[in-house]
Amino acid sequence: MKDLLTIGDLSAAELKQYLDTAKKLKAEWRKTGNKPILKNKTLAMVFQKPSLRTRVSFDMAMLHLGGQALYLSPNEIGLGQRESIADVSRVLARYVDGIMARVFAHAHVIELAQYARVPVINGLSDWEHPCQALADALTIVECFGKLKGLKVVFLGDGNNVARSLMFACALGGAEFVCATPKGYSLDEPSVDKARAMGGAVTVTDDPQAAAENADVLYTDVWASMGQEQEAAERAKIFPPFQINAALVARAKPKSIVLHCLPAHRGAEITDDAMDGPHSVVFDQAENRMHAQKAVLALLMGGKKPVTKRKKS
Ligand code: CP
Ligand code: NVA
Repeated sequence: MKDLLTIGDLSAAELKQYLDTAKKLKAEWRKTGNKPILKNKTLAMVFQKPSLRTRVSFDMAMLHLGGQALYLSPNEIGLGQRESIADVSRVLARYVDGIMARVFAHAHVIELAQYARVPVINGLSDWEHPCQALADALTIVECFGKLKGLKVVFLGDGNNVARSLMFACALGGAEFVCATPKGYSLDEPSVDKARAMGGAVTVTDDPQAAAENADVLYTDVWASMGQEQEAAERAKIFPPFQINAALVARAKPKSIVLHCLPAHRGAEITDDAMDGPHSVVFDQAENRMHAQKAVLALLMGGKKPVTKRKKS
């Protein structure tokens, strides 16, 4: 594993390794603080979009592991505008031991990884949000002791977060149900890929039936970053997919409610669901930091990778 770009690229064993490492590092942090396994290591954090959780949790993860993170804001680098992505990648890799990037087009994170001789971590693209899915899987496993056999229901837009979660469920043996309005479903090739990975995936436009007997109810914003111009139109279509107390009542009594955050309270999730007894959204947010420590430890903890993808 040089990079973490998608969950769809992982094997079940790799997902397990990330989750086991995250659990270990979380327990260690709580008990004694983490050992400085990334002493003198540095991470460049390139952002083309805003962030609270990704930025702060990566920064703190590096700090707790003895390393340092450098935040590079959207106006600083001008990825692909001020300078080509390949050149940014080659230059950054001369200074730092890893690159985490939040980009618009997934192709950009692939290009960064292609030209960097250091690990590249996808901190959200329009295609996947792999770090989020690792934190989601960690949270589910903490609540239920397993992923296998659970019914995980995502409601809303078939977006980056949904896609990564679907692949994580496929790898972990959970059933995944994606309930979206017609025309907003996950793309068929992704669903086919998850099924080929062994996933039991159902795609539906019936949120009430989807929520029935769910172990996990999950939602995300109806319009993602970069889709702001569609927000008003979507706000008219998506309300039946809202997670609220009535929908939670259709799920299992011990079900949990997840949201990657930031949440638009009153839109995709109501206060009673987000602040109610089933919600673990803030544990989930904390788990971003623990899951990403595992990613950093596994990708940057050893010596520099022997195999370089491309000379630079
Ligand atoms: N969930 C998530 O990635 O949050 P941020 O956009 O705040 O990083
Ligand atoms: N789907 C959302 C997730 C934000 C963390 C977006 O891409 O904006």
